[in-house]
Amino acid sequence: MGEIFSEDKDYILNLYNRNNLHIKKADGCYLYDESGKKYLDMFSGIAVNNLGQKHQEVTDAILRQLECYSHLSNFFVSEPVVNLAKLLVNNSFASKVFFSNSGAEANEAAIKLARKYGRSKNSDKTEIVTFYNSFHGRTTGGMTLTGQPKYKDNFAPVLPQIKHVRFNDLTDIESTVSNKTCAVFIELIQGEGGIRELSSEYVRKLKNLAEKHDFLIIIDEIQTGLCRTGEIFAHQEFNLTPDVVTIAKALGGGLPLGAMLVNEKLENVLVPGDHGSTFGGNPVACAAGEAVLQVISEQGFKNEVKTKGRYLVEKLNGLKEKYPNVILDIRGKGLMIGLDVGEQANIIKQKAFSKGLLLNVTSGSVVRLLPPLIISFNQIDEFTDKLEFILEEL
Ligand SMILES: Cc1ncc(COP(=O)(O)O)c(C=O)c1O
Repeated sequence: MGEIFSEDKDYILNLYNRNNLHIKKADGCYLYDESGKKYLDMFSGIAVNNLGQKHQEVTDAILRQLECYSHLSNFFVSEPVVNLAKLLVNNSFASKVFFSNSGAEANEAAIKLARKYGRSKNSDKTEIVTFYNSFHGRTTGGMTLTGQPKYKDNFAPVLPQIKHVRFNDLTDIESTVSNKTCAVFIELIQGEGGIRELSSEYVRKLKNLAEKHDFLIIIDEIQTGLCRTGEIFAHQEFNLTPDVVTIAKALGGGLPLGAMLVNEKLENVLVPGDHGSTFGGNPVACAAGEAVLQVISEQGFKNEVKTKGRYLVEKLNGLKEKYPNVILDIRGKGLMIGLDVGEQANIIKQKAFSKGLLLNVTSGSVVRLLPPLIISFNQIDEFTDKLEFILEEL
């Protein structure tokens, strides 16, 4: 193995299971290793590179902003920051935006907002309900919301008054929420949890309970947002209007950027001094975000994602029919698709590397497909052809 791998081990805390690849350059939907070998990207840096690598409009926007300034601090107004907020508001339920650097930080802001909102109604209205198997980030608040013990048990005590309920279990949520609940935090499609979707019956129940107990519906769209599922926000496909949405990942076009979007009712809950961030809403990241929003809100973009998603699932269904013992289930929406392949997931991922295909595995058994939204039909064919070779070999 090359020097970079040993130096990576020597100097960087060992927190990630690195892939055995040294990528030197990337373009569109392809990444190239040091030998020049080409890989089709089917996970977009975990749903970040939604417009692929080196998208011209994103790159131009970044360079233009760098010519002006890279950072001022949130003591100054800044055009790209305001422009991006305006685009987010104009394309959503929201009336105002707070910018962070990451998804977990957007969720931290939402926890604070929810607790302050609850306390303004009643001093004990501070409970937050979230879901087993969810993922909301690695900060103390994020891991407390996350409904998977492996992410938090070693770091207890976690935040108080955060309860977990079973996903899609109507009785569990009904018996857990009360007038003490200030918010329910939810992923409409659990990403890290294996691409599992909330039922429409559950969405209806949640809306009724929110009305009854006056709690906020906070949707974590950090993975599902920004056209991943075929709409700018996944909740637009679930007939659900949230109070708060958190986004990140694809927002900065590859630069670190997150946001909390709030409705009009919540605009004035947080006041100067309550919350903030040095880098949150960095002008260069926001300029990239502006380009991302402009591209994904162009006429036809959403439909193209939906059509490509259907095409990919159709081809995968064909493979499932042929290899029913390997592909156990296909789940998801748009270009967020999970292939449940049981114990074979990591073997498939390793074989894919040798065939020039980059895959990601979540929940131990699910190949999570999050290709760049700009993937072409030919590239989808390239992926399914390579996958078929792998399935044949198993
Ligand atoms: C649904 C969801 N929420 C929150 C996060 C945390 O985001 P970040 O890693 O940017 O803090 C992630 C990251 O994978 C996520 O998928």
